[in-house]
Amino acid sequence: MTETPPTDEHRPWWRDAVVYQVYPRSFASSGTRGGGAGIGDLPGITSRLPYLRDLGVDALWLTPFYTSPQHDHGYDVADYRDVERLFGTLDDADALVAGAHEHGLKVVVDLVPNHTSDEHAWFRAALAAGPGGPERARYLFREGRGQGGDEPPNNWQSVFGGPAWTRVDDGQWYLHLFDSTQPDLDWRNPEVGDMFEDVLRFWLDRGVDGFRVDVAHGLFKEESLRDQERVVPPPGPDSPPETSMVERTEVDEPMWDQPEVHEVYRRWHRVLADYPGDRMDVAEAWTRTPESMARYVRPDEMQQAFNFAWLLAPWSAEAFADVVTGTFAALAPVGASPTWVLSNHDVIRHPTRYGGGLVGLARARAATLAMLALPGSSYLYQGEELGLEQVDVAPEDRQDPSWFRTGEVGRDGCRVPIPWSGDAPPYGFGPGGEQPWIPQPADWAGLTVEAQTGDDGSTLELYRAALAARRALPTADAVEVSVEGDVLRLERDGLVVLVNCGTTDVPLPAGDDTRVVVASGQVTDTLPPDTAVWLRG
Ligand code: NOJ
Repeated sequence: MTETPPTDEHRPWWRDAVVYQVYPRSFASSGTRGGGAGIGDLPGITSRLPYLRDLGVDALWLTPFYTSPQHDHGYDVADYRDVERLFGTLDDADALVAGAHEHGLKVVVDLVPNHTSDEHAWFRAALAAGPGGPERARYLFREGRGQGGDEPPNNWQSVFGGPAWTRVDDGQWYLHLFDSTQPDLDWRNPEVGDMFEDVLRFWLDRGVDGFRVDVAHGLFKEESLRDQERVVPPPGPDSPPETSMVERTEVDEPMWDQPEVHEVYRRWHRVLADYPGDRMDVAEAWTRTPESMARYVRPDEMQQAFNFAWLLAPWSAEAFADVVTGTFAALAPVGASPTWVLSNHDVIRHPTRYGGGLVGLARARAATLAMLALPGSSYLYQGEELGLEQVDVAPEDRQDPSWFRTGEVGRDGCRVPIPWSGDAPPYGFGPGGEQPWIPQPADWAGLTVEAQTGDDGSTLELYRAALAARRALPTADAVEVSVEGDVLRLERDGLVVLVNCGTTDVPLPAGDDTRVVVASGQVTDTLPPDTAVWLRG
């Protein structure tokens, strides 16, 4: 039996929540804000809140909608306390938070503390002030190496490819672990921590329920900024930048997961505790092991950390079982509850990862159904409820900064705007007939929300049924995990979940009282390959 230790009577909302990730550029456009009809906006999201409530999720996580030149589509923040004009205004953000709360949905916003945009007032001041001043000390400016300082200060590579250093006109270099438009802050400078406490309070005062913390493992670098001794292999076409970071083994990482970072999360824990209503934060920390992930969710740090192990597991009963067992084992000593995720805006959509086509979709539906039965919190990414696949975006339409830095296909294929209705692009994404900022495929008419609604075999109706069934389950902290042949078996509080990862049908347990609660495909008295089922005995 794998379980997290019992908690107090009080059960915070996030412990069992299903959180739906909204990528604002690509969710829905009202056509009335700066981005026009081709770019999603905050009123567009607000208008779709009834859809999310009816889908059956508990919370939204909004990726960054703050003022930004959009080189990394919002993960390059120029003003943490205002809304990007493409998406709307602060009043629109307030209306979205209020509307979500009226629909019974919590709101988690993204916080980007590792780096700012190069258009942030601090970075502009740093450039204007020149070497040696306090303005530069908020970032990691250094002299170069070699003759004339022509070589970068160390050998670090950007996650998006190429050197992690860019030289400015006066000869100094600044560190950017991502794009050159995303200079890293120096968290050893107390001004930085103070600024982010203000930003947290700014959004908490506006009523948000939590924060997803971007690059939570990155804020501190080894103080010496020494060379990396074994360098991470560059990302390949099938491994988006941040997925490949997890696959690294035995690499030397002076830029990630330094012990000093935990003091930041202790401070934020105290800030969140100043507010009522179980405010929370969730770490995006691509650490190397479940044990290092668990350090981010010690009782006085963050409430949650994304558990990317489920997402990275291959289609195998053994692999899924190992992930579940390993996750609970790592979290038990710190008393944290698990999270699960299969897709997000940085990785290849899971039907495509599982092989694409009908098989990929069947496996994706089964993996989702299994995930939704696990104790803890699940994160869904917009469009997965429609069974969307990764789109092969034409080179001229690609916009991911990693594409510009490396020429490798980046993450655009999972960011294509959502199809809501109709037979042709923009499928109700925005008013008017224009293609959105990343063009939608011509063959999505059968995948729209409108087309799938009421179709019992559709992926959308499967998600609705599974989320409704999940709501009816008693909460659980424990799960029994086993593997028989190619079948994964999970049991929690009387609910049995079977996932057939093999290639032949397997018999379902017989018994007059056994009842199928929900299934990811057709089940009779057998469970076909690539299918999952929830059974109540
Ligand atoms: C993680 C975000 O999810 C990703 O989209 C972004 O590019 C990097 N962090 C840099 O902020």
